[in-house]
Amino acid sequence: MKFYILTLFPEMVEDGLNTSIIGRAVENGLIEIEAINIRDYTIDKHKKVDDYPYGGGAGMVMQAQPVYDTYMSIVERVGHKIPCVYLTPQGKTFNQKMAKEYSELDEVVLLCGHYEGIDERVLEEIVTDYVSIGDYVLTGGELPAMIMVDAISRLVPGVLHNDDSTSQESFSNNLLEYPQYTRPEEWNGKKVPEILLSGNHAKVDEWRHEQSVLRTKANRPDLLN
Ligand code: ADE
Repeated sequence: MKFYILTLFPEMVEDGLNTSIIGRAVENGLIEIEAINIRDYTIDKHKKVDDYPYGGGAGMVMQAQPVYDTYMSIVERVGHKIPCVYLTPQGKTFNQKMAKEYSELDEVVLLCGHYEGIDERVLEEIVTDYVSIGDYVLTGGELPAMIMVDAISRLVPGVLHNDDSTSQESFSNNLLEYPQYTRPEEWNGKKVPEILLSGNHAKVDEWRHEQSVLRTKANRPDLLN
């Protein structure tokens, strides 16, 4: 799977995604991440990419031309249009189901805004999906794009060595994950639940399911509806 990230801060995205599991997936060729600097595509002689909002108001708005030309440079290179996600608090809230759906694509463009947003006309022209990572406002779309890349990439076959580990985790089946324990059997006066030491797999599965339901009821009852 290939991610094209359109941003004014490519080094932020590159630095954030070159470590640990995602970094290894890139090295192994399972995913590809290309951060493209929108500023490289401005035709303004001072390399300007933003301007004052028509109608007044605070802040600056990213101009249509550099964003459009950045996107079109990819379209021209690959020979077809690619789904384009604009990261914005006004979008649909990202969740595990969306991560799964995106992980089935071969390529996706993630468009990161800054300042007070991007000229609406270019969004109408190129954006296919508006995605938010939650009900709070960040300074730009880079962290949201990195979060999407992480959540999507780990669902790409081969990225996690144990593909099975995503079938039991939180939000699969609309349940939160059960508690986990590892050695030692007793720590700080607390024992590992007896059932996990029993070797009875059916009983262990039953206990874990119960724990998942209890946790979900306590912490995220909305998931059960
Ligand atoms: N840009 C700024 N805030 C954001 C959010 N919550 N989600 C996605 N993109 C954003």
